Amino acid sequence: MTDPRARHQDLVQQIEQHRAAYYGDDAPTISDAEYDSLERDLRALEAEYPELAEPDSPTQTVGSAGVATGFASVKHRERMMSLDNAFSLEDVAAWLARVGKEAGDVELVCEPKIDGLSISLTYVDGELTQGLTRGDGTQGEDVTANVRTIKGLPHRLDGEHVPAVVEIRGEVYLPIRDFEALNEALLADGKAPYANPRNTAAGSLRQKDSKVTASRPLAVTAYALGVLDWGDQEPDPRLEQQAGIYQVLSDWGLPVTEHAKVLRGIGDIEAYLLELESKRHSMVHEIDGAVLKVNDRAVQRELGFTSRAPRWAIAYKFPPEEVHTTLEDIRVDVGRTGRVTPYGVMTPITVAGSTVTYATLHNAHEVKRKGVLIGDTVVLRKAGDVIPEIVGPVVAARTGAEREWTMPAECPSCGTTLAEQKEGDKDLRCPNSEFCPAQITDRIAFIGSRGALDVEVLGEKAAVALVESGVLANEAGLFDVTEQDLRRVPMFVYEVDEKVTKKQADAGVVGRQAGDVAENGRKLIANLASAREQPLWRVVVSLSIRHVGPTASRALAAAFGTMDGIREASSDELAAVEGVGPTIAQSVREWFDVPWHADIVDRWAAAGVRMADERDESIPQTLEGLTIVATGSLEGFTRDSVKEAIITHGGKASSSVSKATDYVVVGANAGSKADKAEQLGVPILDEAGFVRLLEHGERPG
Ligand code: IVH
Repeated sequence: MTDPRARHQDLVQQIEQHRAAYYGDDAPTISDAEYDSLERDLRALEAEYPELAEPDSPTQTVGSAGVATGFASVKHRERMMSLDNAFSLEDVAAWLARVGKEAGDVELVCEPKIDGLSISLTYVDGELTQGLTRGDGTQGEDVTANVRTIKGLPHRLDGEHVPAVVEIRGEVYLPIRDFEALNEALLADGKAPYANPRNTAAGSLRQKDSKVTASRPLAVTAYALGVLDWGDQEPDPRLEQQAGIYQVLSDWGLPVTEHAKVLRGIGDIEAYLLELESKRHSMVHEIDGAVLKVNDRAVQRELGFTSRAPRWAIAYKFPPEEVHTTLEDIRVDVGRTGRVTPYGVMTPITVAGSTVTYATLHNAHEVKRKGVLIGDTVVLRKAGDVIPEIVGPVVAARTGAEREWTMPAECPSCGTTLAEQKEGDKDLRCPNSEFCPAQITDRIAFIGSRGALDVEVLGEKAAVALVESGVLANEAGLFDVTEQDLRRVPMFVYEVDEKVTKKQADAGVVGRQAGDVAENGRKLIANLASAREQPLWRVVVSLSIRHVGPTASRALAAAFGTMDGIREASSDELAAVEGVGPTIAQSVREWFDVPWHADIVDRWAAAGVRMADERDESIPQTLEGLTIVATGSLEGFTRDSVKEAIITHGGKASSSVSKATDYVVVGANAGSKADKAEQLGVPILDEAGFVRLLEHGERPG
């Protein structure tokens, strides 16, 4: 499209359509980042062709007038503005240079940008009289009856010193936890879940029946003032500062953010933005960035407004965590316990800083529940941690060429018919655990992983190479592998001769001959040798017994002390171990009863793998009888080593805090467990206190 007018019209039409969906009850069809980019294109085009920037262009207006509703339309006493956006620190610095008188040196209030919907609340003589949505900024919808149901929103302002008329602006939102609970309930009823908290909050506030609104745990945060008339009283002098507004609002009983900070200089601002972004997922509500506001309200008045936004404030938007991409295919993976997991293959896309191509879809029910088709445009999210999630399809983007996916009936690795292990299982499994190549290689690679025997070099690639070359039929022979065997594995041998000069040879450099075992092969043999010395619980983990992870393995090893002890125990004896329930007990019992499983243990034992934990008499049993939970990051311990220390000193390492917990060891960035300990009155130890207890049995006073 080369004609700027046609391109302009096209952009305007798209933006208006998306605004109508966003401000209405429809689920959005594009991500916020894509929407922002449309607006940016339009702005750039209008900068080049200013004659296109008519007053009704979306660059000059806010919200959407195109949403038909059953609510009365009411004019705002003072217009509700939007905010201009900054997408990088450079954008922020450029804005700062515009507003700051001397080299951007101006005091700012920095606060979270809440991802909810804006509201204007009118209080007359301290009484809440009206609640309006933003609408198009000039006219909003009267949602007074619904607003009154919001918990934590006062119907009467606190204190004597309240204005005759005041409009309070803020954001209505649905706390993330409540959103998740709401969706869980919907799913349990077989209903479609909501798209996101923002949409749900908007839908909840715009209910015809305020009883429905009342049933939704909406919340509000106040952050600005509109019209303000003190009548015959003196105005509160604190209102001359943006930061003072929050003190006053709070004195009146309105909820305000706890995260606002007064800052000066781009360095401190950058630090604030980084910290806020790192807290993004531990906030009560969703945030999509920060808002920076000039603190001095006299300076705010000087700077004034453009047609749609104040010049004295800017929204800094975080990089998107939700993007759209194409679901090119759905494939299945067979894991070490035979579980068959479908996963999506997508057109690679950057989300929250890394490129994503694959995302698990868990099982066939999940694929159905999400309603995704091969070829769909999908919403991809990377929330909090590192795991990308396909949220669902963008139904409006369908062309008709999409096709449904069906779960294969046979194992893609060995062709065996897939089955539920027990009736009602969500997962399908390949029952051929003895011979299925995918399961064998996954089990071998798992033995090398950090949570098991931690054998460097023994990863997925090495496992596949060892099986494909015929060196290993399964994991039973792993500790019998010799350098001689590795000569048959291309991955572990030199491909070509590498001669050395006489000078190099004199300097100690050795030549290589094609077919010699390479460095990685020698390392593998050495690492396998030292892995034989790993503690018993790690050997138990390495057996890939269903339901038996590190916690159960530790409990079993601590209770029985030897592999034979575990192997010979009855289900009842196993189930009697603290931390081992009947499901695990049965799984362990059944596992050892299979002859080829018993053979694995026998061959490992013959190869010198540790099959018993010797109690180290030199370790003082300082924690005898104590149940301890460690949380947060400690300086002298890893997550595993702290548990190990607790157990070897005679204590019980638990992962959840309860009344039965004796101590909670709290490290840096500890989360809910520390809170729980406080609630229950469980004594808290810092790292130093823990070490004193561990080494000398010194209990805090
Ligand atoms: S101040 C005149 N502060 O973001 C300035 N807005 O994208 C009014 N928002 O319309 C806005 N958190 O709905 C302000 N801490 C905050 C905010 C905030 C969220 C919303 C508000 C605004 C939109 C602009």
